Amino acid sequence: MKVKKTICNYIYYYFNWVICVCKMKKGIFAISLIVLFLTIAAFSLQPSEKKIRTKAALGEKLFSEKMLSLDFRISCASCHIPQYAFADTVALSKGIGGRLTTRNTPSVLNMKNRPYFFWDGRAATLEEQALVPIANPDEMGLPIDEAVKRLNQSPEYSRLFKKIFGQKPNAKNLGAAFAAFEKTLETFDSKFDYWVDDKATLTAQEERGRQLFVGNKAKCFDCHRMEDFTNDEFRNIGLYDGESLNDKGRFLITGNEKDLGRFKVPGLRNVAATGPYMHDGRFKTLEQVVQYYNNPFMFVDNPLNMDSLLLTPLQLSNEDNADLVAFLKTLTDKRFLKVDSSN
Ligand code: HEC
Ligand code: HEC
Repeated sequence: MKVKKTICNYIYYYFNWVICVCKMKKGIFAISLIVLFLTIAAFSLQPSEKKIRTKAALGEKLFSEKMLSLDFRISCASCHIPQYAFADTVALSKGIGGRLTTRNTPSVLNMKNRPYFFWDGRAATLEEQALVPIANPDEMGLPIDEAVKRLNQSPEYSRLFKKIFGQKPNAKNLGAAFAAFEKTLETFDSKFDYWVDDKATLTAQEERGRQLFVGNKAKCFDCHRMEDFTNDEFRNIGLYDGESLNDKGRFLITGNEKDLGRFKVPGLRNVAATGPYMHDGRFKTLEQVVQYYNNPFMFVDNPLNMDSLLLTPLQLSNEDNADLVAFLKTLTDKRFLKVDSSN
C-alpha cells in the first residue's frame, strides 16, 4: 500500500510539473509523456524482480522456468506439479517431445533430511540432483552449459544471480538455487501433526489404522519409520522378477547382488495426493497398495530377492485396509494440494 501511495504521489507531482512545462513548449510535453510512461513501466516491472531476494525465491522461480528445457516447453513443475504435492498424476511423466520418463515422478516435498535422491539413490545432494533432469534427454534435454548460457543471456536472471549470489549464473549456483527452494518444502500442517501436538484427535478408524501401521500385523513402520515415514533405506518389496519387472533399482548403482530390485523407501507424507504409486506407478490407489502388501504373491508370481518381512501374507481384512488408508490420509498437508472450490 505504502509503495502504491508513493507512486501515486510521484505521478501527481509529475503531472503538475508537466502542465507547467507544457505551457512553455509542446515538444517538451511530448517527451515528458514518454518519460512518464517509461517511469511507470519501470515501477511496475521492478516489484516482481524485487520480491526475489533469496536463493530459495530464485529457486522457486527457476522451478517453473521452461527456458531450461531444449524446446522451452518443460520445467521442473511440469512433472513435479505443485498442486499435487509436487508429484505427477500419471505413472510415467512426459518430458521434451512427449518422451516418457522411465520411472514414476516422486514428490519433492520433505527432501531436506534425505541422504539420497532418486529411486535408486544415485544423487547424494539436492544441488547435484537438480542438474540431472535438465540434461536428461527424456526430461528437459538441455546440456548444462547451454542452460547456463541461456540464463546469462537473460538480463533478468543475470541481475538476479548477481544480486543473490554475487556471481553470474553458473552450474553450481543454479543447483544451489533449486536446492534452497526444495529445502523450504517441508510439511507440518497435517491432521497427524496436530494429533502429535495434542491439538486434534484421530477418528476411531484413523486410530485403528495408525495402530496397524506401527504394529506387527501390517509392519509398515519397519520401513516407513521416523518423522517423514521413511527409514531412508533401500528395500525390495517384490516388484522385481528379472522378466516383466526388470528395473534392477539400487543394483544399477552399487553392482551389489543384494541390491537387486531394491528401491528407496519413499516418505509417506502427502501420499494421498501423490498417486499413482511405486517406482513404476503401477498402483492407482492406496487401497491397491495395501492389497499388494497384504499378499505380494497375488500380484507377482516369482519375486526375486524380496524382503523377508513380506514373505508371509499379512492377513489384513478389508476393514484393516480401509483403516490403514484412513490413517495415511491424515498425513496430508493441505498447503500442497490443489485448491478445490468445494472445500
Ligand atoms: C519429465 C519429468 C521430470 C522433470 C521435468 C523433472 N523431474 Fe524430477 N524426477 C522425475 C522422475 C521420473 C524422477 C525419478 C527418477 C528416478 O528415480 O530415476 C525424479 C526425481 C526427482 C527428485 C528426487 C526425489 C526423491 O524422492 O529422491 C528430485 C529432488 C527432483 N526430481 C527434482 C527435480 C528438479 C529440481 C527438476 C527441474 C530442474 C526436475 N526434477 C525435473 C521427473 C521429472
Ligand atoms: C520392507 C520395507 C517396507 C515395508 C514393510 C513397507 N514398505 Fe511401503 N515401500 C517400501 C519401498 C521400498 C517402496 C518403494 C517400492 C518400489 O517402488 O518398488 C514402498 C512404497 C510404498 C508406497 C508408495 C509410495 C509412493 O510414493 O509411490 C506406499 C503408499 C507404501 N509403501 C505404504 C506402505 C504401507 C501402508 C505399508 C504397510 C502395510 C508398507 N508400505 C510397508 C518399503 C516398505
